[in-house]
Amino acid sequence: MNKMSAGIFITGTDTGVGKTYVAVRIAEGLRRHGADVGVMKPAETGCIRRAGELVPADTLRLMKAAGSLDALGHVNPYRFRRPLAPSVAAGLDGSRIEPAKILRSFRHLSKKHEFMIVEGAGGILVPLSDLYSYLDLAKDLRLPALIVARPGLGTVNHTLLTIGVLKSRYVPITGIVINHTEDKSTGSAERTNPAVIERISGVPILGIVPYGASALGEIVDRIIGPPASYRGTGT
Ligand SMILES: Nc1ncnc2c1ncn2[C@@H]1O[C@H](COP(=O)(O)OP(=O)(O)OP(=O)(O)O)[C@@H](O)[C@H]1O
Ligand SMILES: [Mg+2]
Repeated sequence: MNKMSAGIFITGTDTGVGKTYVAVRIAEGLRRHGADVGVMKPAETGCIRRAGELVPADTLRLMKAAGSLDALGHVNPYRFRRPLAPSVAAGLDGSRIEPAKILRSFRHLSKKHEFMIVEGAGGILVPLSDLYSYLDLAKDLRLPALIVARPGLGTVNHTLLTIGVLKSRYVPITGIVINHTEDKSTGSAERTNPAVIERISGVPILGIVPYGASALGEIVDRIIGPPASYRGTGT
């Protein structure tokens, strides 16, 4: 495990692209490699209420995959009922998100664990507040980003936009995972997209996750190595 970086920030080209699915498989894969994995979903929206408590489904999936025994308040400092961007859901609840609270929980968890997996919400510019997006958070966490993207038509644009925004703030990008959330082929776009994205952006496609994949195999190996080079990168 000595070749591993200290963690990864999982973002996506959109909501519903499979960030949690991929994060879960990465956590399981890293544990099979013997890593002590910590997870975090800083803000979760669209939580259902059960017995008076909001249930953060993504957070619980991540915790199960990582075998996390950490306090829910650290793993998921913010949760909201409305299925909206966190800043908007918070505002409608009459509250707001304090990035410092998220960063404190992250520091606490990252001291306890060898490798942290942090899942965003939606895409990279989704706001936690009007002045603080997941891009700002990725920067403050000092984690490299992993981008989960769709396989079909439209993904070249969405993925290049996401890469451009991350690069604009010097957030290192570990790579892109193309994930099939549906059991159907999207035709020639799906066949040509990976090479086009790689060629134009210079960011590697770490792998393509088939629908129903139970393990990520080589993708996890690619995340573990080469040695971390993100610390001190950028500003
Ligand atoms: N490779 C896959 N095979 C089968 N089902 C998948 C796969 N990837 C994602 N799914 C399913 O697609 C749906 C959306 O995936 P997921 O919840 O991981 O997206 P997300 O990007 O985390 O969304 P959010 O922005 O809400 O956090 C889920 O029902 C998930 O189980
Ligand atoms: Mg999710």
